[in-house]
Amino acid sequence: MLLVLLACAPIPVAHAKPAAAPPPPPGPTMGEVVRLHMSENLASAIATRDAVIRGDLAEAREELEWMANNADPGTSIAAGAPWLEALRAAARAGHQGRSVREYGLAVGREGAACAGCHQTLKASLSPVTASQPTDGNGHGKLANWAVSTMWTGLVANSDTAWAAGVGGLAGLPPDGAGYWVGAPGPAATAAIGTLKEQATAGKAATDRTSRGETFGQVVGACGSCHAEVGAIKPQ
Ligand code: HEC
Ligand code: HEC
Repeated sequence: MLLVLLACAPIPVAHAKPAAAPPPPPGPTMGEVVRLHMSENLASAIATRDAVIRGDLAEAREELEWMANNADPGTSIAAGAPWLEALRAAARAGHQGRSVREYGLAVGREGAACAGCHQTLKASLSPVTASQPTDGNGHGKLANWAVSTMWTGLVANSDTAWAAGVGGLAGLPPDGAGYWVGAPGPAATAAIGTLKEQATAGKAATDRTSRGETFGQVVGACGSCHAEVGAIKPQ
C-alpha cells in the first residue's frame, strides 16, 4: 500500500523555477506616501485654524470632523499609533464644542499630537519661517505671521520658531497703536492685553502640551473678537 502511494506521488520537477516576478511598478516610497498624507493632515489643521481665526464655526466644525475620521499618517509604525489616536481624539472632542474658543483649543491639541508623533518617530521637518513683518498697517499682517510661526514651532517642535511667534504677539504695543485701524476702543485694548498675556505666558511653555494650549487660546481669542465685530467675512 505504502509503495503504491509512493508510486502515485507526483514526481517533483527538479528544475522548475517560479515564473520570474514582474518588476514592481514604480510607486511612491514610504517617505513619499507619508509626505502625501502629511500634506492632507496639514491642510485640514490649517483650514481649521484659519476658520477659527475668522470666527467661522461651521467651517471649523467641518474640518474637525474630517480630521476625526480621516487623519492618516500613511504609515503603520507602531510607535506612531497612540499619536494618531491622540490626533483623532482631539478632533473628535473638539467637534463636540460649541464656541470659537473650544474649536481653537481643539486645533492647539491637534498640533500637540502632530508634534508628539514627529518627536517620537524622529520625523524630519524643516521649520522654515518668514521673518517678522515690521510695518504696523493694521494688526492682520503681524498677527497672521505670529500665528503661523507659533504653529510651525508647535508642530515641528522648534523652540526657535515658537519663541519668535509668541515674542511677536507679546511685543505688541499695549494699546495696539499702529496695529489697529483707527484708535482701538476699550474692548480692543482689553483684547490686545489678553493676547499679550497669553503670548507672554507662552514664552515659558517649553513642552508641546502647554504650547498646544497656548496656541489654542490665542487663535480662540482672535476668532472670538472677529466673530463679535464681524471683522472678517467667511471665505
Ligand atoms: C502617526 C505619526 C504622525 C502624526 C500623527 C503626524 N505626523 Fe506629520 N510626519 C510624520 C512622519 C513620520 C513624517 C516624516 C516623513 C518623511 O520624512 O518621510 C512627518 C512629516 C510631516 C511634515 C513634513 C512633510 C514634508 O513634505 O517634508 C509635515 C508638514 C507634517 N508631518 C505635518 C503634520 C501635521 C500638521 C500633523 C497633525 C495634524 C501631523 N503631521 C501628524 C508622522 C506623523
Ligand atoms: C479686539 C478684537 C480683535 C482681536 C483680538 C484680533 N482682531 Fe483681527 N481684526 C479685528 C478687526 C476689527 C478687523 C478689521 C480691520 C481692522 O480694524 O484692523 C480685523 C482684521 C483682521 C485681519 C484682516 C485684515 C488685515 O489686516 O489683513 C486679519 C488677517 C486679522 N484680523 C488677524 C488676526 C489674528 C491672527 C488675531 C489673533 C492673533 C487677531 N486678528 C486678533 C479685530 C481683532
